[in-house]
Amino acid sequence: MNPFYLKEAEAFVKKQLGRDASGHDWFHIDRVRKLSLHIAHTENTGDLFVIEMAALLHDIPDAKLHETEDAGMLFLRDWLTQIKLPNEQEQAIMGIISTISFSSGISKLPSIEAKIVQDADRIDAIGAIGIARTFAYGGKKGQLLYDPSIEIREHMTKQEYRTGQSTSIHHFYEKLLKLKDMLHTDTAKKIAAERHAFMELFLQQFYKEWDVTS
Ligand code: NI
Repeated sequence: MNPFYLKEAEAFVKKQLGRDASGHDWFHIDRVRKLSLHIAHTENTGDLFVIEMAALLHDIPDAKLHETEDAGMLFLRDWLTQIKLPNEQEQAIMGIISTISFSSGISKLPSIEAKIVQDADRIDAIGAIGIARTFAYGGKKGQLLYDPSIEIREHMTKQEYRTGQSTSIHHFYEKLLKLKDMLHTDTAKKIAAERHAFMELFLQQFYKEWDVTS
């Protein structure tokens, strides 16, 4: 554990993402950090320092904030080099962050630390928080809440996922409802079960109110 690096990472992330209105703000990062540590403690596994650093920094290279994901990874690596993090830890953190995003499509993760941070990030994408974040993001992208005439895309390329026509409600089927079956740890699966059920209840109520006369 090295509190110096953790404090540096906190300050860096607050500066980079603090005012992001797409659901990747500082409080998302803080929840993912806490969830990651909770999972690691409960499962009694993983390098806690690497997990906490990766959780804090996981959204820094996001393509939504840079020209490309590669540019984002370079930006992160430059910063890790600047704070003189030992090479071994830099490699571990870069390895985690480059593989865990939903759009990377990588299913074989390099380490238990990567699995834990990915689980935590996915848990924060579902349940009541996930619903709130979905509509905040949709609003920022100028999407409708819902449009029943748009087809649900079961399979899509990375490009389609980023740019295709969609709505916030469609996002539940294209991503959020799939997440509970993509988790690695038992601790995360338990937390996800309640949140998944809540999203299904939300959708049921949403359609009921949509069809006002039914
Ligand atoms: Ni995230």
